[in-house]
Amino acid sequence: MDLRGRHVISIADFSREEILHILRSAAEMELGRPAEPLAGRLMATLFFEPSTRTRLSFEAAMLKLGGRVMGFSDPGSSSAKKGESLADTIRMIERYADVIVMRHPRDGAARLAAEVSRVPVINGGDGSNQHPTQTFLDLYTISRIFPQLVEGGLTVGFAGDLRYGRTVHSLISALCHFGGRIKLVAPRGLELPPQYEQEARAHGLHIETVPTLQAAIDACDVLYMTRLQEERFPDPLEFDHIKASYRITASMLSSAKPSMRILHPLPRVNEIAADVDDTVHAHYFTQAANGIPVRQAILGLVLGAV
Ligand code: CP
Repeated sequence: MDLRGRHVISIADFSREEILHILRSAAEMELGRPAEPLAGRLMATLFFEPSTRTRLSFEAAMLKLGGRVMGFSDPGSSSAKKGESLADTIRMIERYADVIVMRHPRDGAARLAAEVSRVPVINGGDGSNQHPTQTFLDLYTISRIFPQLVEGGLTVGFAGDLRYGRTVHSLISALCHFGGRIKLVAPRGLELPPQYEQEARAHGLHIETVPTLQAAIDACDVLYMTRLQEERFPDPLEFDHIKASYRITASMLSSAKPSMRILHPLPRVNEIAADVDDTVHAHYFTQAANGIPVRQAILGLVLGAV
């Protein structure tokens, strides 16, 4: 029986034989013998906020492992738009998928999802809270260049929006496992929340604020830049002024250590000039590419396949 090309609009459109054929086919699917580690496994991507790298690198990772993907990247196309709760959405998706990757604007949303899900939930970023898989790839990227990361031998600078930047919060928490020195530079009002500074100190890291972006560039082995979000500034004139002082250009790198590398979770807007891309210090595109092997590892592990 060939159902190729048929629309599936209503059960009334299908004969008894056609329905039985579909059910037999489903049973064969369930018994399938995968040749690739995640063949036959399904990943759901629930993105309630925009994303390029996180969603697409997760999808690429799953596909490379032989798995499949489904999901939405626009919550307006999901029943969230009709008022369905996140908990109910997860209770449905866990019945469809083997693993859920989710990004949500609300702090704590991923934890809530994990509490009601029987399949692994992977946080692709929740509000200004955490973005753990970005941190795994940041750590992977840093450790590939500087193996001394794990011995606490590095100075890592963080510049830009340290208050709302969830990738910054996650990475500082992770660095607490390794030690080292941290330099901070942020516009007034966008400083690192005190709990992260306290956490770093409690773990023996030396953490301090430096007065300028140039001071951070000159002191660091790794400079982690973040995007300044215009909407955080009530006064557009103040934003224009701050934007100019949080922008790296190639000429500012002449006093940096030759081995210094600039990371950025991306997307960038103004904070790294295009002429930096051609310097030895630019490492953000390699960093983004590392998202695929790192997310392959995460998927393989949480699904017990590697
Ligand atoms: N780094 C990161 O989270 O990028 P996206 O927002 O494009 O996923």
